[in-house]
Amino acid sequence: MKLIVGITGASGVGLGIKFLEKLPLDIEVYCVISNSAKVALKFEQNGAMPNNSNILFYDDSSIGACIASGSFQTDAMIILPCSMNTLAKCSVGIADSLITRAFSVMLKEKRKVVLAPREMPFNTIHLENMTKLSNLGVVISPPMLGYYSDQQTLEDMERFIIGKWFDALGISHDLYKRWS
Ligand SMILES: Cc1cc2nc3c(=O)[nH]c(=O)nc-3n(C[C@H](O)[C@H](O)[C@H](O)COP(=O)(O)O)c2cc1C
Repeated sequence: MKLIVGITGASGVGLGIKFLEKLPLDIEVYCVISNSAKVALKFEQNGAMPNNSNILFYDDSSIGACIASGSFQTDAMIILPCSMNTLAKCSVGIADSLITRAFSVMLKEKRKVVLAPREMPFNTIHLENMTKLSNLGVVISPPMLGYYSDQQTLEDMERFIIGKWFDALGISHDLYKRWS
């Protein structure tokens, strides 16, 4: 599987890093971290990045990177967390960065895309943008807490949320206990 991971400047950027760390090593990962996400990372965690050999990192300004073209075949993309700025650009087709261009490519090629918008509360513009993208087939999957899987710690809760993103992308895992 070839997976594009965009990390944008919303609270919870650390979840994006943990998501990368938990990805199976046989997945080829193309990762782009926006400049705002780098700022948020400095505020919210120690800035340590995973160095798994299956992850290629690109600068958000590298508009000529392979993932900017539909002729480069990938299977899926996730933007997590997805800032309201990036959400808005995605919903109107602005493609002025590698993350938004890659998103636009995935949409036109009708490939799987998952967005994890993070803001609280959402305003009507945010909700309209999400509705529009959902109607276009994008999976809208914010980092939402669930309490039915016997979570005891923050780490358990994060594993549950990351597991739900893996589910949406079709990646098998044992990150949380399923309801049965
Ligand atoms: C520590 C920090 C936390 C932020 N949290 C959020 C957030 O939860 N949601 C959001 O939409 N923007 C948040 N922002 C603001 C975005 O980073 C800002 O709108 C930026 O322009 C987003 O750029 P990007 O979409 O290119 O990453 C946060 C900024 C910082 C520095």
